[in-house]
Formats: sequence, C-alpha cells, structure tokens
Amino acid sequence: MRIIVCGMGVVGQSFLKLLISSAGNLYKNYGIKPRVVACIDSKGIAYSPTGLDINEILAIKQEDGNLSRYKSSLLNSDNPIEDIDAEVFLELTPTNLSTAEPGLSHIIAALRSKKNVITVNKGPLALSFSSLIELSEYNNAMFRFSGTVGGGTPVLEFAKHCLKGDKITSFEGILNGTTNYILSRMADGLPFAEALLDAKNKGYAETNPSLDIDGDDAAAKLVIMANWIMGYKVTLKDVDKTGITDIDPEEFIKAAKEKKAIKLIAKCNNKELFVKPIAIQKDDPIYVNGTLNAVTFKSEHSGEQTIIGKGAGGMETASSILRDLIEIKQSMLNYRTV
Ligand SMILES: NC(=O)c1ccc[n+]([C@@H]2O[C@H](COP(=O)([O-])OP(=O)(O)OC[C@H]3O[C@@H](n4cnc5c(N)ncnc54)[C@H](OP(=O)(O)O)[C@@H]3O)[C@@H](O)[C@H]2O)c1
Repeated sequence: MRIIVCGMGVVGQSFLKLLISSAGNLYKNYGIKPRVVACIDSKGIAYSPTGLDINEILAIKQEDGNLSRYKSSLLNSDNPIEDIDAEVFLELTPTNLSTAEPGLSHIIAALRSKKNVITVNKGPLALSFSSLIELSEYNNAMFRFSGTVGGGTPVLEFAKHCLKGDKITSFEGILNGTTNYILSRMADGLPFAEALLDAKNKGYAETNPSLDIDGDDAAAKLVIMANWIMGYKVTLKDVDKTGITDIDPEEFIKAAKEKKAIKLIAKCNNKELFVKPIAIQKDDPIYVNGTLNAVTFKSEHSGEQTIIGKGAGGMETASSILRDLIEIKQSMLNYRTV
C-alpha cells in the first residue's frame, strides 16, 4: 500500500513512528505492507517510488527541520500530489478555518487523481464538507477523517457504525480539550488569564489559542459531526458560537453551589447547532475534567450513550489515521466503494 504523507509535524511524525512500531501487527492481522513513497512539508518533498527509509526521514526531519538532505529519487513534476502513484494520501497540514488552505487544495488534488484520502485537518471539512464528499464519490475514492473529532477517541465511528440502524436524534458534548482544561482550572478558582497561562505552560494551548478559546475548534468539529452523522449540509457559519473569554467569575461560584460546572458545550438538536459555555450537572455523563472530551448521543431506540476519551495528542491522533488506513485496505479488498 503506497502512501503519501503531507504534513510532517506532530501528527505526521507520530504516524511514521506508529507505522514502524506496528509494522508486524499491520501485516499479520490486516495484510498491510505500508510503503511511504513521499513525505511533504512546507519546504519540500522526499520521494522514492520504491519506499522511503522512514527511520532516516524521521532523523533528518528532527535534526534539520526539513527533508532536503534525504537522497530522493528524481521527480519531474509541478503537481506531485497528483502525479505520484499512491493508493492513499494523508493530509496532515495545519487547520485553517478561514480558507481551509493549504489542506483543501491538497485534498482536491489527491481525490481528482483518484487517491484515497485520510485527513485529520478540520478546515477543509468544516468549510467544504459536501463538495469533498461529492468529489470523493465522483472519483470512486475513499475519504476518511476519524481524527478530526476526538483525536484518537473514535467518536465518529461510534456514531456511524456502532449505532447503525438506529436514528440519532441529537448529540451534545465537550469537543475541545484545551478549553475544558482552562474551565476546569477556573472552577478551581483561577482567573481566566492564569488558567490560560497554565494551559500554555503544560502544552495544552497554542501560543495563539484563539481557535480554542473563541470556540472555533469545537464549532468545526460540530459541523463535521452534523454533516457526517446527521446528514446535514452545514458549514461553520451555521453554528451559533460563543467562546469562553467573557465568562463572569461569579458564574463559576453560582454553578458550584448548584452542584454544576461550566463547560463549553457543543450541541446539535433539530438542525440547531451551537457552541457555548453552559452550567451542566456534575452527574451528567459528559462532565469530564482536564483535557478529556465527551459526547452523548441520543438515539430513537437505544437511548443515550456517552463516549469519553482524549481529544488530541500526536500518537492518539496517529492511531485514528491507522484505523482509517485499515478500513481503506479492507474496503479495497472487499471491492467496496465509498
Ligand atoms: N496535534 C494534535 O494533537 C492534533 C489532534 C487532532 C487533529 N490535529 C490536526 O492535525 C493537523 C496537523 O497537526 P500537527 O499538530 O501535526 O501540526 P504541526 O505540528 O504544526 O505540523 C504541520 C505540518 O504541516 C506542514 N505544512 C504546512 N504547510 C504546508 C504545505 N503548504 N505543504 C506541505 N506541508 C505543509 C508543516 O511543515 P514544516 O514542518 O515545514 O513546518 C508541518 O510539517 C492539523 O490540521 C491539526 O488541527 C492535530
């Protein structure tokens, strides 16, 4: 199985490490012999049609920060994503919720050249979900994105596969670990600025945390879930969104007195989509602390189920890519289409 890895940051490098450590298991249990034929970062590309030496790629990327020292095969192409032969294209570049680029163009190029695509990048899905699904169907290519919601926790698969045959009527949850950590610390009495600094010091918040604290990251995940699970055709602008920057500290005291806690809740109910801070009961199954994520699905016949797990992390997210890869391989073997 020939793979192109586009994006060699935390997730891309974790995925390559996971490929090395799970090579035996992948072959024995799933018949997968992965061959990474290209790795792409913002500065260039390493390419070999017979397969790159992944250990060397990782060492060079870690030492130099780029891939130029790798002895690549000659590649005469202005459009490597389209022109390189591969079964699977991984899109792992940074999430951009304004234009979805560069991920959107990468995914379009890969699907147009009939490659199966796996992404963990929320931007293209939050802004262009329907057209990307259509493009994948038109080209008879599979398109998987488990890691866009819940990191390694299989939130999308749980709803889509485990609740097959039932009808999910609504869902709500905590979809952003950074804000959940900050709100947990604020419930301990820390002011917002100190809780944010603590999250940054622990590596839970980016230097520019606006995507998280303004609620955009949770809104993007909500959009992906609403499209994929509920069959809606919605984008980011359909979400009524409030972040966590302006919560009155008194609200935390009031909530504690009522045995409640303030959480950034993302909810989808009857086409109403919102992300906002809400006081929830502490015995609600989605009441989780730290960086955990939790989602409760309400179904017509099976009632309510909650899935809880880590919402991010390089290795956790890489494990979702491996799941998608196995599913693609199995679908290829069964000659199943999208
Ligand atoms: N980290 C997590 O826990 C996590 C969890 C779930 C989802 N995600 C999503 O996964 C994606 C990757 O996250 P990350 O943490 O790995 O990000 P990251 O560490 O910032 O890495 C991003 C990578 O993309 C490369 N890149 C940027 N522009 C590019 C371009 N035009 N062409 C090719 N490569 C380009 C960068 O190249 P350079 O190396 O040259 O800078 C870098 O290697 C994001 O969309 C993120 O939202 C991350």
